[in-house]
Amino acid sequence: MPAPHEVLGVDPAADEAEIRAAYRRRAKEVHPDQGGSAEQFQAVRDAYEQLLSGSAPDRTSATESAETHGRGTQSPTASREPDRPEETVTVEYLDYEVLDDHGWSLDATDLFERARRADLEPDAHGRLAVEPGETLLEAAEHNGFAWPFACRGGACTNCAIAIVDGRMPPPVGHILPESMIERGIRLSCLAAPITDNAKVVYNVKHMPDVAELLLPASRFEQTHSK
Ligand code: FES
Repeated sequence: MPAPHEVLGVDPAADEAEIRAAYRRRAKEVHPDQGGSAEQFQAVRDAYEQLLSGSAPDRTSATESAETHGRGTQSPTASREPDRPEETVTVEYLDYEVLDDHGWSLDATDLFERARRADLEPDAHGRLAVEPGETLLEAAEHNGFAWPFACRGGACTNCAIAIVDGRMPPPVGHILPESMIERGIRLSCLAAPITDNAKVVYNVKHMPDVAELLLPASRFEQTHSK
């Protein structure tokens, strides 16, 4: 079986940025819609998570063992913030399509005030509770909403959201470049806000730079993306 760095085509000593870049490239190459298979796609994803978590034996820069991560290969360090709430938190959400329809900017300081005044349908704007341990996507689904998703594994960006207010740590094992993380883009399938009264815009897969990373949802099972 090839080593994780061989699966991604990176040097064993590759740094995190190189691993992320290689993952994005390989994920697109082996995606089922590009002629790859579900097995290849999963192998690339597993290799990526192992390298990022430091659990791959070939990564010379690894300093921590998987055992110290609490959630094995799903979590990068023992000391990082939890990526799901430890208590119930309330999240105010807004559909990115509403911004498109109304010509509103994601950067508008009064974005959510506008949404409240616009008397939108409950699936476009409202509040939902995220229970301890839930991802934001799971919470939306438990509240009866069909937010977009496909892979549920941090690879396709269909579930991307923008954090407008509050804190939602970026979990390990995602495909987003650092520039997007800095702008507050997150993946709702992997994590949730950990601060109460957070504000998020969901469905941001339609934003131009997020759309560039999008892997088509058509071959993933149980897809109900918008
Ligand atoms: S559903 Fe694919 S990244 Fe979240």
